[in-house]
Amino acid sequence: MRKVRAKGKQVEVIQSGGVRKLEISGLPKDFMEWQVESRKELFNRIERGEFIAMFGVHLPVLVTLTQEGAFPFNTGNRGAGLVPKAERLESYLHSLRECLTRTKENPWKESLRDRLSIIKEIYSKTENFDERMLGGLEIFEGKAYKNMQENPLVSLHYTGPGPTYLSYQVNCVTEVLPAEDSRYQFLHLTRRLFEHERFHIPQPEFPFGYIFWVCEVYNKTPRTKVKRPST
Ligand SMILES: Cc1cc2nc3c(=O)[nH]c(=O)nc-3n(C[C@H](O)[C@H](O)[C@H](O)COP(=O)(O)O)c2cc1C
Repeated sequence: MRKVRAKGKQVEVIQSGGVRKLEISGLPKDFMEWQVESRKELFNRIERGEFIAMFGVHLPVLVTLTQEGAFPFNTGNRGAGLVPKAERLESYLHSLRECLTRTKENPWKESLRDRLSIIKEIYSKTENFDERMLGGLEIFEGKAYKNMQENPLVSLHYTGPGPTYLSYQVNCVTEVLPAEDSRYQFLHLTRRLFEHERFHIPQPEFPFGYIFWVCEVYNKTPRTKVKRPST
């Protein structure tokens, strides 16, 4: 993996030919609000026992680049969401660990209220999150992983549910997070909080995580090209 490091509003890719510097634009307010508000609705749906067939707000398509083969890109869905500000991380980790220890002793279903109350607190406002980044977990170490080792510049394409289909292209530089990093632990523990819910494919382990440093965001939401007929 090429070494990637962020310094304030810049992210640096260290490569054999030198250091490539990119500006971190960060996520716009509308994207942050979309992420937080959609999750609030999601938690209410989980509380009501609804089956979550798809949650595009958290499952963008990840586009990575390759030099192998005729086509220079690779795609695949990826869980990628907001990451808390550094000053809030430790207290969130403490609450998440405490909750998961308690739930070990209780039946999973009985612990739902407890698990939801913690995640609802974390997602209570956009200010809890660092707008410079998104985070995700690696599972399969397949082509996307290999490509990001060669070229950490990626695109995440998000699409929300209809009829609005809010859509965003988020161009990022990927930094690998080892398991001891507290941002990895946040991503891992929040995943474990819902590991046994029906909408997840159970995964025994996540070897590492990613921070996607946000450099460009494009709103790709479709709009009608005709006037809607009045009814
Ligand atoms: C809804 C959905 C969510 C997924 N989330 C992740 C994820 O968070 N992390 C991951 O490594 N793979 C995830 N995958 C699997 C990847 O999309 C893909 O199958 C895997 O990376 C292998 O493809 P690759 O060889 O092109 O990398 C997800 C797949 C789907 C359909």
